[in-house]
Amino acid sequence: MSYLEIRHLHTHFTKHAGTVFSPRTEVIRAVDDVTLSIEKGEILGLVGESGCGKSTLSRTIMQLIPATSGEVVLAGESLTRLSHHEVRMRRLDFQMIFQDPYASLNPRMTIFSTLEEAMKQRHPNLAKAELYDKIIALMETVGLDPAVMKKYPHEFSGGQRQRIAIARALAPEPKLIIADEPVSALDVSIQSQILNLLRKLRDDFQLTMIFISHDLGVVRYIADNIAVMYQGKIVEYGEAEQLFHHPQHEYTKRLLNSIPKLPASA
Ligand SMILES: Nc1ncnc2c1ncn2[C@@H]1O[C@H](COP(=O)(O)OP(=O)(O)OP(=O)(O)O)[C@@H](O)[C@H]1O
Ligand SMILES: [Mg+2]
Repeated sequence: MSYLEIRHLHTHFTKHAGTVFSPRTEVIRAVDDVTLSIEKGEILGLVGESGCGKSTLSRTIMQLIPATSGEVVLAGESLTRLSHHEVRMRRLDFQMIFQDPYASLNPRMTIFSTLEEAMKQRHPNLAKAELYDKIIALMETVGLDPAVMKKYPHEFSGGQRQRIAIARALAPEPKLIIADEPVSALDVSIQSQILNLLRKLRDDFQLTMIFISHDLGVVRYIADNIAVMYQGKIVEYGEAEQLFHHPQHEYTKRLLNSIPKLPASA
């Protein structure tokens, strides 16, 4: 059995359509029979156009949205069958990194307080000295100088803020990280630094990650395997390089063609 197994997962939304005189409801199959598996220490790239269901799939895996049907099994435990209380306890096992770290960090909290709060979720009784040491180690792990721990998010650049958000995601020692477009708002040169950091974290800590992006070029750089999502379904899945060089599905070919190419003389 794989570390994370997603079996025939469906997430449907009901939308009210029609008019006042002839109301009707429409079912949106945001996640439509998705089956995937991820090994421990693997980075799975999830790619597809806006609205294809990437975020809904990740939120369903995290049990933030109830699955309409299907199953999510993490480290041998079926999450779709847990009670509400148990789900809350398990939520620490999943941490997210978002596109806009500025929006996801509390502007009134220093980096130290942000990481302290995140770390205490898992270890509420950690002694002060130990907490301090752990926060210093964590900051160094993500390439931040511990000397800046008393600063606030607005005092950092976009790339540094994303490093803080990554540190906060790692602090509760999650089993799975879901990164939803984590580099899309960053300059290209900063993008590669953050991608390299995520790869290094995977290598050093056997981090398991779902990396979501609309950009197949970015996903190819970081992912071991890639799942291509289209209208709620996984239409193609394969090893990253293989999929990049030999796309099978028409939609994957279209995604590949939409990656901008530099002119040969540039
Ligand atoms: N809470 C909701 N209620 C109703 N429909 C929803 C809800 N959340 C998402 N949807 C619909 O489900 C579909 C998938 O949306 P989702 O946000 O998962 O796409 P996405 O691939 O993450 O897009 P993007 O790349 O823009 O973030 C869309 O048609 C969206 O309108
Ligand atoms: Mg999304």
